[in-house]
Amino acid sequence: MQCVRKVTEDLYWVGGNDKRTSRFENIHPLPLGVSYNSYVLLDEKTVLFDTTDSSVADQFLENLYAVLDGRKLDYLVIHHLEPDHTATLKLLLKEFPEAKVISTAKGMTFGQQFGFDYSDRFIEAKEGEEVSFGKHVVTFIKAPMVHWPEVMVTYDKTNGVLFSADAFGSFHSLDGALFDDEVNYERDWLEESRRYYTNIVGKYGPQTGNLLKKAAGLDIKYICPLHGLVFRKNIGWIIDKYQHWASYTPEEQGVLIVYGSMYGHTENAAQILAAKLHEKGMHNVSVYDVSDTHTSYLIGEAFRYSNIALLSVTYNMNLYPPMQNFVEDMIHLNLQNRTVSIACNGSWAPAAGKCLNELVGKMKNMTIMENQPLLKSSVNDEVVSQLDSLADEIIASMK
Ligand code: FEO
Repeated sequence: MQCVRKVTEDLYWVGGNDKRTSRFENIHPLPLGVSYNSYVLLDEKTVLFDTTDSSVADQFLENLYAVLDGRKLDYLVIHHLEPDHTATLKLLLKEFPEAKVISTAKGMTFGQQFGFDYSDRFIEAKEGEEVSFGKHVVTFIKAPMVHWPEVMVTYDKTNGVLFSADAFGSFHSLDGALFDDEVNYERDWLEESRRYYTNIVGKYGPQTGNLLKKAAGLDIKYICPLHGLVFRKNIGWIIDKYQHWASYTPEEQGVLIVYGSMYGHTENAAQILAAKLHEKGMHNVSVYDVSDTHTSYLIGEAFRYSNIALLSVTYNMNLYPPMQNFVEDMIHLNLQNRTVSIACNGSWAPAAGKCLNELVGKMKNMTIMENQPLLKSSVNDEVVSQLDSLADEIIASMK
């Protein structure tokens, strides 16, 4: 049975929710699911904005046909060719042979690479060009590398809807809600939105910043992304979050503590550091075991906090592999502008500290704290004193 929601008078959400797929891109856990959003406009012409992933294809098609109610599809607007949004494209091209396909020229190339044949009905979306579907007039804005090079977004001048592709997307299935004002967004959605942006698009901050600049000149009443909720109330708030993430500016003064520990001694040091921070008045502190936390969550937190403390055991005279993976992921995603603390444990040849200093040194605008506690197997009074000095230095760095 169809499961559809109305976005505006003549625009419908016809996507699907997936709570069965365990990982996005076969990497990032989806404990709360994910939605694949598709929208249909019923104007003088009918327009489908993107399709969905194969996991929700049956639901999407049922929704689409229910909304079309016997009408043919006149236009297909493809903002992004990644397969989580184009799984049913081949079927729809066959089902609606007269439908025109609008995408960027690069989108056309990618479409051919993925085996879609629409060269005979392709309309190239050119930046700033207007297309009328009847009452609705839309304009296209290129958004290369948000998240792939062919990406564009569409602005409907008639109702102020911005179809934003992957931008403003989120993990988390909709579970009946469609709009940001139908949920407690900050409590229930923000973490998954941050985790989605930082891990999927985080590397492309400057390109996201360019899109935000272009969007600043538009009178946006609705943001309709390819994943997650439609924004209609807190548009300024979510744009502000995106401005922080895209410019690698911390959202909060606080400390993310990530430790790699085999037998609990480095964990002990991490807990002592956290306790000292609280004792000294810094209460915005989160502590994670790098072995027990998927990197995507740590990346989200690293984009959130001003300070990052990395405490790692040495492993094979090198860095503990899960810690290495986390720090390399921060490097790949271009994280910058943070204050980083480093502590090392090693029983006979401690090397984790040197490795961490080298890796963090590769990142832009990272301030590394001078106090770097060194554990020889376990925490002793001297290490406690070093952790105390480090806590002071961290707090001083926030002033
Ligand atoms: Fe949701 Fe980059 O695709």
